[in-house]
This record gives sequence, C-alpha cells and structure tokens, in this order.
Amino acid sequence: MDIEKKVWEVLLSEKEIEGRINELGQQISADYQEKKLLVVSLLKGSFVFTADLVRKISIPVKIEFMTTSSYGHGQESSGQINIISDVKGDLTGYDVLVVDDITDSGLTMKYVMEHLKSKKPNSVKCCVLLDKPERRQIEIVPDYLGFTIPDKFVVGYGLNYGDYYRNIPYVFVVTDQDR
Ligand code: IMP
Ligand code: MG
Repeated sequence: MDIEKKVWEVLLSEKEIEGRINELGQQISADYQEKKLLVVSLLKGSFVFTADLVRKISIPVKIEFMTTSSYGHGQESSGQINIISDVKGDLTGYDVLVVDDITDSGLTMKYVMEHLKSKKPNSVKCCVLLDKPERRQIEIVPDYLGFTIPDKFVVGYGLNYGDYYRNIPYVFVVTDQDR
C-alpha cells in the first residue's frame, strides 16, 4: 500500500503527546528519587519517545539501548524475540526502566524484562507510550503508560511503516480513503 496516497488520521497530536510526557517525567522523577535510575530504550521504535521522556526527568539518569527484533517488515509479531544488541555493563544496584514505543502482543516487553531481571538489578519496570491491550498474547500491564489506543496499526513519533515515517512528529492511522 502506498500510504502517501491515503488520508492520514491524527490519533495523537504533538501537543497531546508532549503534555502526557511531561506528566510521566514528573511521576518517574518522584518515584525514582532515591534510586539509581537506568533507562533502557528499545531501538528503533522508542528513540523519539525516549529522547523526549528523559528530558522531562529531573533526577540523575543513565541511558542504555537495546535492539530486539520480532516484526520483520510485516504488521504482525513473529512471536520469536531476538536480542540483536544487549545492554552493556553490570546492572547490580540499578533500578531499570525499560522504555518502548508500544506494547502490542506484549511478547517483546515480557521477554526483555525477564532478560534484564536475569542480570540481577534492584528492580525492572516498564514505560510505554502506547498500549494496545486488545492484541495481548500474554499478560503484561505497563507500569507507566502514555495512552491506551484501539487495535489499529499506528505510525509516526518513532513508529515505522516499512521502516519509514518514524520522523513524523505525531501518531497517525492510515485510512482506506484516498487523498
Ligand atoms: P509486541 O512484542 O507485539 O508487543 O510488539 C512490540 C513492537 O512491535 C513494538 O515495539 C513496535 O516496534 C512494533 N509495533 C507494534 N504495533 C505497532 C504499530 O501499530 N505500529 C508500528 N509498530 C508496531
Ligand atoms: Mg519496537
């Protein structure tokens, strides 16, 4: 499908996203005040969200990145999660917050959190911008959540369509309607 020829419906505007991220940043800063916060950002999808979120966190924070794969180029999870690039170093004493763009089946977040727990940090929690609970294949509830959204494929603000459109500053849904 050539999405350039379709009408894009804005699901979350830049303003809405910014407002919610301010709130999340404040909440995380308060909750992790006496802790050694380590944000683990899941590439590529969460790079935009992570960059905005960490700048709203007012306590000291370290940032690491992990790359996982499951989607390939389709819109369905393959179910098999692979770690392409892992966090570096010792996690002892850190309170880890895994940051991702979206929780869909939940398989990625579950797998990553279990993997990080095996490195024996103090705690492992997660923060996702978007949640599609209707699509869940395993039970997982985000500890910090931006927005619950309907079961639609969304693009923009880090989320890709055929590896493009991550740079669109809002979240949109591609409609069937021609422009
Ligand atoms: P899960 O393992 O099924 O929860 O999928 C998580 C990953 O799939 C996310 O980190 C996204 O990269 C990708 N994904 C899930 N839903 C969407 C979507 O609607 N648009 C773009 N990417 C998505
Ligand atoms: Mg992702």
